[in-house]
Amino acid sequence: MELQQERRSVYIKTMGCQMNEHDTEVILGILASLGYGEVHSVEEADLILYNTCSVRENPERKVYGHIASFRALKEKKPQLIIGICGCMTQQQVELDNILAKLPHVDLIFGTHNIHRLPELLERAASGERIVEVWDEGEEIVEDLPVQRRDPLRAFVNVIYGCTNFCTYCIVPYTRGRERSRDPEAIVEEVRSLVKDGVKEITLLGQNVNAYGKDLQTPTDFAALLQRLNTITDLERIRFTTSHPRDMKDSLIEAMASLDKVCEHLHLPVQSGSSRLLQRMNRGYSREEYLQLVQRIKQAIPNISLTTDIIVGFPGETAEDHQATLDLVKEVGFSSSFTFLYSPRQGTPAATMPEQVPEETKKQRIYQLIELQNQISSATLAGEVGSVRHILVESFDPEKGTLLGRTRNHYQVAVPGPAELVGRTIPVRITRSLTWTLRGELLDQDAAAI
Ligand code: 5AD
Ligand code: SF4
Repeated sequence: MELQQERRSVYIKTMGCQMNEHDTEVILGILASLGYGEVHSVEEADLILYNTCSVRENPERKVYGHIASFRALKEKKPQLIIGICGCMTQQQVELDNILAKLPHVDLIFGTHNIHRLPELLERAASGERIVEVWDEGEEIVEDLPVQRRDPLRAFVNVIYGCTNFCTYCIVPYTRGRERSRDPEAIVEEVRSLVKDGVKEITLLGQNVNAYGKDLQTPTDFAALLQRLNTITDLERIRFTTSHPRDMKDSLIEAMASLDKVCEHLHLPVQSGSSRLLQRMNRGYSREEYLQLVQRIKQAIPNISLTTDIIVGFPGETAEDHQATLDLVKEVGFSSSFTFLYSPRQGTPAATMPEQVPEETKKQRIYQLIELQNQISSATLAGEVGSVRHILVESFDPEKGTLLGRTRNHYQVAVPGPAELVGRTIPVRITRSLTWTLRGELLDQDAAAI
């Protein structure tokens, strides 16, 4: 007779980037195989897990605050396991801090040993305090179970780690050196996702443009896209993030010619000032970035460009800031993720002189956000009247509207029936708001229903 596995519940909080979001899907997949189901309140949980981010200080502070507040829960329910994983645990200072300040944390693991969770959890459940963090990843572990949150769209890792050492960034210290996945394994994974009904994939890596360099038989990202583009029934391919320095013409050509690769590129510029870009160790100048953008726009006329910008990097002057504003205007990003510079212990920028006062940083970021909002709404306003294909992701029963995205990644709401979820349909854009579009079904679709 089979033993009935005891049902248990996990509350998981995910912070930071899509890499972490996808790690959470893997963690939930492993936990599901151990009999854990996800819950959305800490009171109901047998396991509370924080998948943390270290890119900036604020989310780190939140982790300490939240976990400290779970002490009473743990006293009431001694069987409760409280765990921390993700990038914070990979930094010795934070690890020491967690151990000293949060004595009720039972389980700590890092970004390189997620596959070890079943054993670590079992030991934690028997009362041992588990701390297992690896400095580097070993061989990439394939075929871990994944609990995907979206039936139509899936994340697929292509390269782990980052070896760029931008002077402000903690990621190379928390995620290790660049390691590409074998192209066969990626193609296999995408094939099986498509068999399960996935229509759109987003290929993930801190720097996808470095894909394939480290493999025994070196290849590149453009070649990977070419292979994935041949998979029948896969409709859309997206990817993030691209480093401008490594953006080769072969990739631009692939984007222009492969029908499944969407016309959207996330190309973090970080600053519009060549002087700051050099201090950031980005490996390109303002002019080189602008030339690259020109080549991309020429090859893919309908491209939507998005970016990341850091405001208040050490030494940033009013002129440097103006150079960033000018660049944002010149490129016309459809949206930007803007960050206040946050010093990260152990990175070169944290000890650079001329740290910018918080008040100045804030004034500058408001100015930048204001400018970006104007550009974003103008970009979306330019869509009104056009016909775009959207992949319908969901249906809002209260409003009776379908929600989907264009290939450019613009979100569109369209009145329509739930049966269209999962289909890619042409819609006419009728209205634009600051961040989203409204549309209507074309006559033949409306008639076909
Ligand atoms: N401070 C502020 N923003 C940062 N980023 C990375 N490190 C820092 C930091 N120390 C931003 C960069 C990167 C994005 C993911 O986070 O813009 O592209
Ligand atoms: Fe950080 Fe730079 Fe690597 Fe991006 S490319 S993860 S900003 S070090």
